[in-house]
Amino acid sequence: MRKIIAVLLLLPCLASAADFYDRMRGNVPLDQTTQPPPIVNPDNSDVRRSRNYAMQPPIIPHKIEGYQLDKNANRCMMCHARTRTQESQAPMISVTHFMDRDGNFLAELSPRRYFCLQCHVPQAGLNPLVNNQFKDVDTMLNQAPDPSAAPPQPKK
Ligand code: HEC
Ligand code: HEC
Repeated sequence: MRKIIAVLLLLPCLASAADFYDRMRGNVPLDQTTQPPPIVNPDNSDVRRSRNYAMQPPIIPHKIEGYQLDKNANRCMMCHARTRTQESQAPMISVTHFMDRDGNFLAELSPRRYFCLQCHVPQAGLNPLVNNQFKDVDTMLNQAPDPSAAPPQPKK
């Protein structure tokens, strides 16, 4: 009797495992190891890309392979620090990177901006796993109004 109950309890799990589809795993069954795709070269064009909105952390248009970024050293700051930009011709970290969480300006990079890769990422030419329908604000403002949208309410 025990055995039958156990089998009955397992049945729904088996069904959902077969239906399960993961964009990253593809069709590989869950009990098998996937073959990882080859690592591609990141964008190293050195062309700064426009941002999708004003507050976006700009993406990194150069290779960062092998750059040390830990508690002992920050390779990024060797080019992006205020005092290094003349030599490196890299854009300086912006003023927000000097602010602490109360909005006070520090003399140096704020600790909360130390780990650059929390916000800035390199890019690679890959097919996105999840489709993205993001439109920037200029596109939104310039597109014809949606006729199905609710009409604007008159001001009182
Ligand atoms: C050898 C100098 C150097 C180092 C080290 C370096 N960068 Fe850069 N970075 C540049 C230069 C120069 C540019 C301007 C575009 C270009 O030439 O690639 C740039 C551009 C950028 C941009 C784009 C800024 C914008 O406004 O579009 C970001 C973000 C950035 N770097 C982040 C980083 C991060 C994060 C690291 C560390 C992982 C790093 N960089 C290390 C020199 C450097
Ligand atoms: C908590 C998120 C965060 C971290 C961590 C961070 N940044 Fe940024 N960064 C931003 C945002 C957001 C912007 C764009 C708005 C702004 O300037 O604050 C930016 C802008 C920049 C720019 C462009 C500045 C300009 O004036 O065009 C550079 C270069 C940059 N960051 C480099 C770095 C480097 C190097 C580090 C690590 C030392 C770093 N950032 C850490 C969020 C971050």
